[in-house]
Amino acid sequence: MSSRIVSGIRPTGHPQLGNYFGALKQWVSIAEKADETFFCIVDQHALTTLKDMQTLKQDTMIMAATYIACGIDPVKNAIFVQSHVPYHTELAWYLTCITPMGWLSRMTQFKDKAGKKRENALTGLFTYPVLMAADIVLYGATHVPVGDDQKQHVEFARDIVQVFNNMAADEILKMPEPVIQKSGARIKSLRDGLKKMSKSDASDYSRINLNDDNDLIALKIKKAKTDPNAITGDIKSLENRPELENLIILHALLENKSTQDVLSSFDGQNFSNLKLSLTDLLIDHVSPIREKVNTLLNDQAYLNSCLKDGADRANIVAQQTMQQVRTSLNLLQI
Ligand code: TYM
Repeated sequence: MSSRIVSGIRPTGHPQLGNYFGALKQWVSIAEKADETFFCIVDQHALTTLKDMQTLKQDTMIMAATYIACGIDPVKNAIFVQSHVPYHTELAWYLTCITPMGWLSRMTQFKDKAGKKRENALTGLFTYPVLMAADIVLYGATHVPVGDDQKQHVEFARDIVQVFNNMAADEILKMPEPVIQKSGARIKSLRDGLKKMSKSDASDYSRINLNDDNDLIALKIKKAKTDPNAITGDIKSLENRPELENLIILHALLENKSTQDVLSSFDGQNFSNLKLSLTDLLIDHVSPIREKVNTLLNDQAYLNSCLKDGADRANIVAQQTMQQVRTSLNLLQI
């Protein structure tokens, strides 16, 4: 069976290190082996949480530039904007019609984002997983590389595929598999090792953004929360030390080493050595991406042409799926 990879990121500002390790970095390696790839900038998803629409256009361009700067080749991969393919919202509606409310009420991300005032939560936030399922099945995705926090949404998409195909009595929609890395699937906040690193955290010091300059990276790592104990090489010692574990995992991911190897190399040392070494690695890694993003952002005509080409390719595949979906729903076609 040929492999189709589909994934996406919400354009809500510059991506952070969690987006990089959970998504972008693994997209590049998976894309090398895949038959077809669709990397979407999910601007319609961004509308569910946006506080300020003024920045959406610019954030969409930033995301396009970031995909390319991180190594997604726009010639080999379709890079496109969700709202440039109208079939996402059309398919989402058909899927909404077969989605039980109870399934959506159980989504942990909805519960987290809606908070205590559930009655006031926006309907778009509630039905968000249906739109995400549409993003995935529209392209017949076989694999969906995401961070750990999106696993439940991909599993939801699998459930919907089953319901739809049962109803249609045919394998109209392909069953997608989530692809989640063993390490780096949940990068933690620099201020609280129990929370995930997130673009929406109120404190900018909780995350490293891919556009942070070198001084800011150094400052954020210097201020990163630690604990009072010295580092030991015993991997079990990480169990109750989430902040240390996060810094060690980041160090290991950046160096392509195992967590144990990195931990052993800091055995008996204090946090400041680990932090200095991590800062150097981060700067080596992030600054070329930042510079490439800035260069690309100065060439809007090039970015527009990549997005136009990506949307053309995405529309062709999406249209084929929609034709089959409409037929199986018995919608009158003239
Ligand atoms: P979003 O925009 O919140 O995040 C984009 C990707 O980054 C991953 N990620 C992380 N990975 C590890 N550690 C972290 N701290 C971290 N923070 C974010 C996310 O898991 C995700 O892979 N609903 C999705 C976007 C989406 C999508 C899709 C993804 C819409 N349609 C179709 C795949 C396929 C979201 O909000 O991701």
